Amino acid sequence: MPTTWVDALLNKRRHQGAAPFPHQAAFFLNNPVRRALSKPARIVDDIRLTGSERVLEVGPGPGFYSVEIARRLTYGQLDLFDLQPEMLAKAARQLERAGFHDVGFTAGQAAEGFPFPDNTFDVAFLAAVIGEVPDKHACLRSLSRIVKPGGHLVFAEAFPDPDRMNVQQLRDLAEPEGFEFVDATGNRWRDFVRFRNGEAS
Ligand SMILES: C[S@@+](CC[C@H](N)C(=O)[O-])C[C@H]1O[C@@H](n2cnc3c(N)ncnc32)[C@H](O)[C@@H]1O
Repeated sequence: MPTTWVDALLNKRRHQGAAPFPHQAAFFLNNPVRRALSKPARIVDDIRLTGSERVLEVGPGPGFYSVEIARRLTYGQLDLFDLQPEMLAKAARQLERAGFHDVGFTAGQAAEGFPFPDNTFDVAFLAAVIGEVPDKHACLRSLSRIVKPGGHLVFAEAFPDPDRMNVQQLRDLAEPEGFEFVDATGNRWRDFVRFRNGEAS
């Protein structure tokens, strides 16, 4: 059991992919330097929310993107789902501080099926998460059940995440589960990939 953030990061390095990013090292996910370099507001703009969606953020960690998402949901609703309750607690503090009090929090394993009814969400957003999920196919299958037909599945993947997945790998995961590729933007440092749940027809 890691005792310090150094221990926790070393453990993650040894178990790349299989281990979640340790909550003890959450500072590395949410700090002014990453904020300045990654510009979370701009990334969340690319999700193209209209403000009335029900959004699921899977693996929000300490809430680097969550506040920006909540800010755009004038009439919508945000749910956060993460394996580590400690990460959800950190995200909750960020959201409370920013004045958002009606966010849903669920702790769980994304590979074991999401505990939400069919066709619940307009958008599911995953940033630097899917590479850490042990059974990615099961996760995508469950997402296709809870994202509404015509709803969107959006991935953000970036350097220096050691579990970063590329556009083709994301397509290979999502398309067999009924998600249609919409578009991908980015560069060698980051990818932003959008799919639509095609079960409408
Ligand atoms: C690298 S962090 C990214 C956090 C945030 N999305 C960001 O970009 O700052 C990955 C997050 O996904 C969560 N996670 C990893 N595997 C998961 C799984 N199988 N089910 C649910 N959450 C998971 C971790 O607990 C962690 O909070």
